[in-house]
Amino acid sequence: MISISRRQLGMGIAGLAGGVAGRPAWAAKELTIGVVLPLSGIYANQAEQYEGGIKAFQALHGTSVAGMPVKVVYRDDQGPGSGDLARRLTQELILRDKADIILGYSFTPNAMAAASLLTEAKKPAVIINAATSVITEKSPNFIRVSFTTPQMAYVLGQYAAKQGIKTVYTIVSDYGPGIDAETWFVKAFTAAGGKVVGSARTPVSEMEYAPFLQRAMEAKPDAVFSFDPGGDVAVAFMKEAKKRGLMESGIKLLVTGDVVEDQSLPLFGDAVKGVISVHHYQVGLDNPENKAFVAKYKEIMGKDAIPNFRAVQGYDGMALIYKAVEATKGDLSTEALLKAMKGITLDSPRGKLTIDPETREPVQTMYVREGRLVGDQWQNVQIGAYPDVKDPAKDPALK
Ligand code: PHB
Repeated sequence: MISISRRQLGMGIAGLAGGVAGRPAWAAKELTIGVVLPLSGIYANQAEQYEGGIKAFQALHGTSVAGMPVKVVYRDDQGPGSGDLARRLTQELILRDKADIILGYSFTPNAMAAASLLTEAKKPAVIINAATSVITEKSPNFIRVSFTTPQMAYVLGQYAAKQGIKTVYTIVSDYGPGIDAETWFVKAFTAAGGKVVGSARTPVSEMEYAPFLQRAMEAKPDAVFSFDPGGDVAVAFMKEAKKRGLMESGIKLLVTGDVVEDQSLPLFGDAVKGVISVHHYQVGLDNPENKAFVAKYKEIMGKDAIPNFRAVQGYDGMALIYKAVEATKGDLSTEALLKAMKGITLDSPRGKLTIDPETREPVQTMYVREGRLVGDQWQNVQIGAYPDVKDPAKDPALK
């Protein structure tokens, strides 16, 4: 005969009663984080970075918070161009997996597609990449821990003009973050006296950059400015720039950090020499959080694995959730979590990061870097820093 203790029996009955509303009342309270990322397809290497960051965070800071075990449930949105799927997966995570909070969205269209659902379902979502400025205005439940492309592009436009660059040709991916990058680079650059001599917009997953770079070089600008969503697309762009001798022809290359992700530099080799980029993170940052993070990332992902800004965004997304749940003492209601997340400051591997309570956007340092050989490794070496950069696209004075 199976013996059941009185306590177990009691819990069972309570469980039946509570089970109607979802998680049985007797079950230990747990925090469920529903993660939506491109786990397959040509952007799967991005998901590997975010996931590595999430795992490194838990390895360093534990798998429970405020006395609750943390469950992380992953769903595969397969990359850009799958907004409907991202929305459906978000819904599944909320309804079936009872996610308390959503974490993810590498691509703008996917975050945009989930916005109204998050508002209706009253669930908070921490964006760990998607970078078009307007996304956070589409749902009051979005909090972004990554960046907006205007944050990088505006700084880069100012920096370029300061370096004496007079003319630029722009090449950006033809969707939200690319158009934002173009708009805000041009705004800063032309306000400082620079001139745009030509521009091109390329399909989001473009792999053939020959015609675009040929036209850019024919325009003989001082510099080319470019944004693309990284991964294989960035590799295709950088390889073509090298093949055509863009830099050797005397044209400078200015890019958002997405184009020169730290882990891709070994593939680029000397193509990255002298490339000027702006981002919130490079693997060589010298602070204790980054040292611990990089060591743990390598321990988990392999000794030769190199974390990039995406891994840090995964790490910081978790950090934000843990810190908020600690602040609410385990209250997982959407109101409590959102209130706690607004204004939080994190000691991130990227440096200090604060969530602007008004815009729910990250306020952070933007690093200017140059591609240089350090020892026998190509690196994004910091050559400048712009502290406390807010999303310029939400600054009424700049609109
Ligand atoms: C985006 O779709 O918003 C996006 C994707 C990849 C990036 C940056 C932005 O590296």
